[in-house]
Amino acid sequence: MSTINYSEKIPNNVNLGEDRTLQRALEGWQPNFINWWDSVGPEGSINHDVYLRTAISVDPQGWAQFGHVKMRDYRWGIFLNPGDAERKVHFGDNKGEKVWQDVPGEYRANLRRIIVTQGDTEPASVEQQRHLGLTAPSMYDLRNLFQINVEEGRHLWAMVYLLHKHFGRDGREEADALLQRTSGDQDNPRILGAFNEKTPDWLAFFMFTYFTDRDGKFQLAALAESAFDPLARTTKFMLTEEAHHMFVGESGVSRVLARTAAVMNELKTDDALKVRAAGAIDLGTIQRYLNFHYSVTIDLFGADQSSNAAIFYSSGLKGRYEEGKREDDHQLKGQTYKVLEVKDGQLQEKEVSMLNALNEVLRDDFIKDSVAGVNRWNKVLEKAGIPTRLTVPHKAFNRQIGALAGIKMSPDGRVVNAMEWEARKSEWLPTSDDFAFVASLMGRVIEPGKFAGWIAPPVMGINRQPIDFEYVRFG
Ligand SMILES: [Fe+2]
Ligand SMILES: [Fe+2]
Repeated sequence: MSTINYSEKIPNNVNLGEDRTLQRALEGWQPNFINWWDSVGPEGSINHDVYLRTAISVDPQGWAQFGHVKMRDYRWGIFLNPGDAERKVHFGDNKGEKVWQDVPGEYRANLRRIIVTQGDTEPASVEQQRHLGLTAPSMYDLRNLFQINVEEGRHLWAMVYLLHKHFGRDGREEADALLQRTSGDQDNPRILGAFNEKTPDWLAFFMFTYFTDRDGKFQLAALAESAFDPLARTTKFMLTEEAHHMFVGESGVSRVLARTAAVMNELKTDDALKVRAAGAIDLGTIQRYLNFHYSVTIDLFGADQSSNAAIFYSSGLKGRYEEGKREDDHQLKGQTYKVLEVKDGQLQEKEVSMLNALNEVLRDDFIKDSVAGVNRWNKVLEKAGIPTRLTVPHKAFNRQIGALAGIKMSPDGRVVNAMEWEARKSEWLPTSDDFAFVASLMGRVIEPGKFAGWIAPPVMGINRQPIDFEYVRFG
């Protein structure tokens, strides 16, 4: 079951060949996917042979095989983690019942909405990143970008499979619509805000893969608890791919910091203009990018109080992060959780029903996880003897969703008036000058083993290959 059948048009480990109707429907969607890839996927990449990993089995050992392939020939397919015939619903009102192999009628609309919302983010990020290949800081980084892009394409396949298999005609229509919305489009944008933002440069890309792919991790982890077993099994496998995306972000920012610190030490300066003149990215700009990507990403968790979140949990559709490891009744009735609000110009906590606050619970889990990596970034500065530290902004900073939306707040958590906000927002969020400066560094470095001047080389190559390996062969 866990071995993937590559002899079929659509690689899979779900015995797709046994369901001719479904197979034909997905084979009908496949050319539309390729058209989408060709038109809004990685720009100018069609003839490149890229050193990609491809899943050969969902077992932890035999996960991947590496080799040079053209991206449009990547074997996108359908891979579910092995099922457990004894698996029971482990939270919510249906706790203790057998998990569902099909969608219960009463949960159909909500499950479809959850799957479509997740599915929509996958092609969106490919669209957001489509120009980055033209300004890669190295062949190694170019390969990592492309690896992420093909895997986000596969995540789209994972959600489209569920829509086609379990949601009939509605599902097929939703699958088509996933290829019709476009990131940033005026008339037909992607569903969630962060997925309509631009990813204009590689610093933004590393912040995005650190923070926004981590949102992906937490959403997928919550869905991996689902009582709808096919959703749980497919998101479990997606999580193993997501880990690499976050690695690219974390190590990318570390390497930027290493280079900046080296320049600061060489010049014995912390003057942003001098650092910039030497072709490195000053720490202030890095902090502002961090503030932006962090605040936009935590909005993705939704409103702090949400009756939908309560319904999704109680009906068993979406659990908490690591639901199975928590020691409580897994029903949460009568329990409370603290959320923030602004009252009389002051930020204060209030206790609300935990079931209604589950978006906030997941957001707080995400925050803990994000901060751990920021501390690892600070180790790079510490080791270099630089006293500056990066920090994540306050949870209420620059929010657009929920009770904190639109509140003017400094990154350190003070409610500020409109005048102070206007006067200081250029210290807190990236300015057009920051974007222009970072853009000015974005040349294209593609000789094997060479790196742009604003980023340090990685510690090691991909799949134990040397750093100067030919990760991309240009056709
Ligand atoms: Fe994804
Ligand atoms: Fe991802």
